[in-house]
Parts: sequence; structure tokens; C-alpha cells
Amino acid sequence: MITQLTASGFTAVPYFETSLLMQEHPKGITFSTKRPNVIVGPNGAGKSALLKTLALQTLSYQTGESAFDDNYTRGLDSDDYWHQAGYRWSRDFRYLNGLEVATDGAPALYYQPGHIPGHDNSIAASMMCGYFDEARAYGTLIKDKSSGQRSQALLEKLKALLSGDKPTLSYQYVNWHGGTQPLAVDRLRDASDCTLRAEVLKKRYGNVAAGAVPVVLMDEPEQSLDAKAEALLWRQIADADMSRLQVIVATHSLYPMMHPEHFHLIEAVPGYVAEVQSLLS
Ligand SMILES: Nc1ncnc2c1ncn2[C@@H]1O[C@H](COP(=O)(O)OP(=O)(O)OP(=O)(O)O)[C@@H](O)[C@H]1O
Ligand SMILES: [Mg+2]
Repeated sequence: MITQLTASGFTAVPYFETSLLMQEHPKGITFSTKRPNVIVGPNGAGKSALLKTLALQTLSYQTGESAFDDNYTRGLDSDDYWHQAGYRWSRDFRYLNGLEVATDGAPALYYQPGHIPGHDNSIAASMMCGYFDEARAYGTLIKDKSSGQRSQALLEKLKALLSGDKPTLSYQYVNWHGGTQPLAVDRLRDASDCTLRAEVLKKRYGNVAAGAVPVVLMDEPEQSLDAKAEALLWRQIADADMSRLQVIVATHSLYPMMHPEHFHLIEAVPGYVAEVQSLLS
């Protein structure tokens, strides 16, 4: 579970800290552990930036499930995620510097419509970039389906979790060459920057406490769903047992604003919900 997030000098997602959402929440964002968290607000407010930040923080950004993955330590964008404290030759690497997240360290599932493993723009590219199995599974899942059917298929795993499937509490190993055990001290001396980064992640995410509560992150899960499928999804979210699963979702769906009592609504800008509700009445 994640209870609080603040950003100060956080550059890994460069447009996050300056977003309207964060400007309107100078003390940070507080998440509920009792009701599903629903982030609402105008286009461009920073909702997806928040979800991306949380996905990076839970290592679920690349494949949609928390996993050790070389793309966090040595991928094309990985330099953006790391800060080398002190002088240039320092060995002090900090992941997502400037981001403070109060969490029990539980893993997450991250859903974003159209998200191909590794954030590649085609299944073929994804397969060639270290995600052969994941991209193939993704391709098989969406083959010969309408856009809504694709979303339904991709949401299946999350929906099963919402309805009671037991979540996994450990981080997976996908596209990872950093080993599973800490490196011996004598090998650390000559280790490369990427190896040192991998050690930081292993230390931080290697052991999840038994009672930790996993997180479901969703960015506009309603996209392409028919009205009934969308309403059913929200019912499932509202009915999910928050003691075993936390939900954080960004949405443009009207459902949570029409049933605010079931959700912890986080407005990107104050008064947004009341404005929408008055337009609907
Ligand atoms: N890849 C990017 N590079 C630079 N700026 C970006 C990028 N993606 C988004 N932004 C900017 O960051 C701000 C927040 O964008 P974000 O995508 O988080 O908005 P959002 O609230 O999810 O909007 P929407 O409701 O349209 O999905 C916007 O002003 C946008 O222009
Ligand atoms: Mg968005």
C-alpha cells in the first residue's frame, strides 16, 4: 500500500512535479487504504504522470507487474531514473531521487490501455528488446479482437484480483541480468554503474514484508469499454476488499463522480467534481 507521495527536485518524470495536480497539492498526495483512490481532473493535469511515477516506484512500469528489469538500470531511459549523489565518480546511486513515497513496499500491477511490454511501439520491437515471452503473450491475448475486447482481455487479470484472486507478494524477474542475491563486497569495488544500480534495487525491493498490501494502478481503464462493461468494472472496484488490495485509478469516467460515497476522490484541481456534477444535474 501507498499512503503518501511528495516530490521535490524529482526529475525522472520531468513534467510531473510541475503538473497542475502537484501544484495544487504542494504538501503531496494522500492515498486512502479504506476506499479505492480515484484521481479526476482536466486533460493534461498530471494524472498519467502520477500513475507513471507510481509505476516506476513499484517497478511495474515496464511490463505491468512489479519486476526486476534491466530497463530500470541500463535501458535507454534509465539515466533519467537515477541520481549519482556527490561527485562524478561517487558510488552512491539513488533511484527516483526527489520522490518520497510512504509505502509498505508491496508490489503493484499497472494497467494502461495499449501498453506493450517495455513501452515499445510494436509487439515485434518489444520481442526484440528483451520481452519475447511477454510480448508474445500480449499478442496472443489481443489477436483478432476489437479495441474493447482487447481492453477486456488485458483487464482480466486485474479484475480477477479485484474479485478475490490471491495477489503475489514478490517482485518478478523479467529481462533481468542483475542476479537475485546481493553481490559480494569484494566484487562491488570494481562493479559498473549499472551493477551498482541493480544492487540498490535488489536491496530496496528484494524482501517484501508478509503483511504488505499490493496495489492496483490503472490509467483510464474505462477506455474502449462498453457502458455495461465500464459499470461492471467500477462495481468490482468499489466492492474489492481494500484490506488485501489497494486501488489507485486515474479516470474520465463519470461513474465515481456519480457515486462519490464509494471512492476516495482526488481532484487534480479543487472543485472539479462539483463542477462536473452540476453539469450533469
Ligand atoms: N512525454 C511527455 N513529455 C513532456 N511533457 C509531457 C509528456 N506527457 C505529458 N506531458 C505534459 O505533462 C502534463 C501532464 O500530462 P499527463 O499526461 O499526466 O496529463 P493527464 O492528466 O493524464 O491528461 P489526460 O486526461 O489527457 O490523460 C501535460 O501538461 C502534458 O502536456
Ligand atoms: Mg492521462
